[in-house]
Amino acid sequence: MQRQYWEKIAPAYNEEIFDVLQNDDKAIIRSAIKRIASPRKTVIDAGCAIGKWLPVLSPLFKKVIATDISAKNLAIAEKTHVHLANIEYCRVDMSAGKLKLPPADVIVCINAILSASLKKRQAFFHNLSSCLKKGGHLILVVPSLESWLLTRIIQHQWKIDKELFSERLPGIEAVKRYRDIRQGNVEIDSVATKHYLKEELHLLLSKEHMELTAVKKIEYGWNTEFLKPPKWLDQPRPWDWMMTAIKNK
Ligand SMILES: C[S@@+](CC[C@H](N)C(=O)[O-])C[C@H]1O[C@@H](n2cnc3c(N)ncnc32)[C@H](O)[C@@H]1O
Repeated sequence: MQRQYWEKIAPAYNEEIFDVLQNDDKAIIRSAIKRIASPRKTVIDAGCAIGKWLPVLSPLFKKVIATDISAKNLAIAEKTHVHLANIEYCRVDMSAGKLKLPPADVIVCINAILSASLKKRQAFFHNLSSCLKKGGHLILVVPSLESWLLTRIIQHQWKIDKELFSERLPGIEAVKRYRDIRQGNVEIDSVATKHYLKEELHLLLSKEHMELTAVKKIEYGWNTEFLKPPKWLDQPRPWDWMMTAIKNK
């Protein structure tokens, strides 16, 4: 997932990209944000896209730094939220070598570390930590690899949306797909997208001196995975992982 991908998708962002804010029915992410927010604190929204979280963050913090790799996304965010006075918009590649962002008290990063490139993800995680003050809080939401696999197991066992899931790949593509899956890079709309295991996230954060304070599932309806989910299918539901952490060094 390169910058061009996000620039291209920007004009149709609402139709193309899953809306975590709208689908977090229990407002688990909003509650986590409220718990650590303060009118004295600065927050970075890392990978803010068209700024869906800005109306949530703006009234809770002194200042919001809205960052994204896509200039088009940021332009839409700025135009949409022109009435929110405490927001600074910065085009930033969180996977770049050196960032010019001043360290913040809080970082919110929701479904932005999706790159299939290990190098880019490592840099992104490192930069999250370096942009956070000591004692600062991170709220991270990422796709769950466990959830992706559970969906495939349930689909296969109960033959749900059979046509959509029955894909035959030529040898070379199948080998590539197999290698990708072993690294948690699974296809979403034909784009290899990183999904994470809970324990993997724990390790990644601890390597960046971030101590886990909570791990929660952000659960969605089965209609986000299947066109025709069976009526009996309820729990367990598909989910993203939300991890909250404090920078300890
Ligand atoms: C799925 S969208 C999530 C947007 C937003 N956080 C939300 O929940 O509505 C992912 C966003 O991350 C941004 N992004 C991806 N890689 C990035 C990077 N290296 N640095 C900054 N932003 C990045 C993309 O441009 C895109 O706008």
